[in-house]
Amino acid sequence: MCLFVACGCGERSSRNASGGKIKIGFLVKQPEEVWFRNEWKFAGLCADKYGFELKTIGTPDGEKVLSAIDNLAAQGAQGFVICTPNVKLGPSIVAKAKANNMKVFSVDDEFIGSDGKPMADVPYMGISGRAIGKMVGKGLYDEFKKRGWDIKDTAAVGITYDELDTARDRTEGAIEALVAAGFPKDKIYTSAERTTDVPGANDAGNIVLTQHPKVKRWLVFSMNDEGVLGVIRAMEQVNIPVENVVGIGIGGSSCLVEFQKKKLTGFYATALISPKQHGYETTEQLYKWIKDGTKPPMHTLTSAVLINRQTYTKVMKEQGLL
Ligand code: GLA
Repeated sequence: MCLFVACGCGERSSRNASGGKIKIGFLVKQPEEVWFRNEWKFAGLCADKYGFELKTIGTPDGEKVLSAIDNLAAQGAQGFVICTPNVKLGPSIVAKAKANNMKVFSVDDEFIGSDGKPMADVPYMGISGRAIGKMVGKGLYDEFKKRGWDIKDTAAVGITYDELDTARDRTEGAIEALVAAGFPKDKIYTSAERTTDVPGANDAGNIVLTQHPKVKRWLVFSMNDEGVLGVIRAMEQVNIPVENVVGIGIGGSSCLVEFQKKKLTGFYATALISPKQHGYETTEQLYKWIKDGTKPPMHTLTSAVLINRQTYTKVMKEQGLL
């Protein structure tokens, strides 16, 4: 799906060296996910401010990415921000961009080069995965203690997606913090999801619930809100009481509807990250790079803050997210 955000204001500032209007693409791997829609929203605000054209394109696979880059080039775009559907596409994306004389800025999921290492020569903005994962693990442990749960009938379930570094950092961080706080490692059950969305996590969560029918109380974590929501839905399906579940996500976009539900659910909290920074600032830095040649920061890791039903309105308002 494509959405065109154009603005007539600030025409002068929106022209590049050759005098044409600046056009920038914003490509995301999962256009249906609220996080990515929010990134687009804030990128659109940036386009409005500076008066360049923004073209948002959903690119769920490699073929779509490469044809989107060609399309953008044909339309005269000078660069794009991208959350790639597969980090190993990094070298092909860079080659395609170079061939079309376009600049690339990677967001969320960092490109991996042919040597298996992150491509440090491509500007990247992502989250501090491990630190944020630790925040989740600590939050879960604090709630486990506060509720006075007996470890005998409690366990933790972590939905993992280890092929993506930022995902692995997050779930490993959560496990590290749980264990460091005193939660037994052998009571943390991990299950790999095939897709990083609610259905993927639902399937992965169901496997754990089937394997451990005797567990009464659950702590839930994953790489994002969707990963936790999938498990929460699986637990509802087998009638685990809501007061026996503490799920903490990472995101703050998809979980909004959950917090707004009248009835309490097991989705207790999330580590709120910033689609505003990831959408607005990446686009702004790319725009300035194209327009003035200002090299963007090469590696930015953004932070998070824990929010729950009680605190989300205040914190999200303060951050310009509500
Ligand atoms: C990955 C995940 C998204 C979101 C971003 C944040 O791309 O798939 O859900 O968490 O990271 O950077």
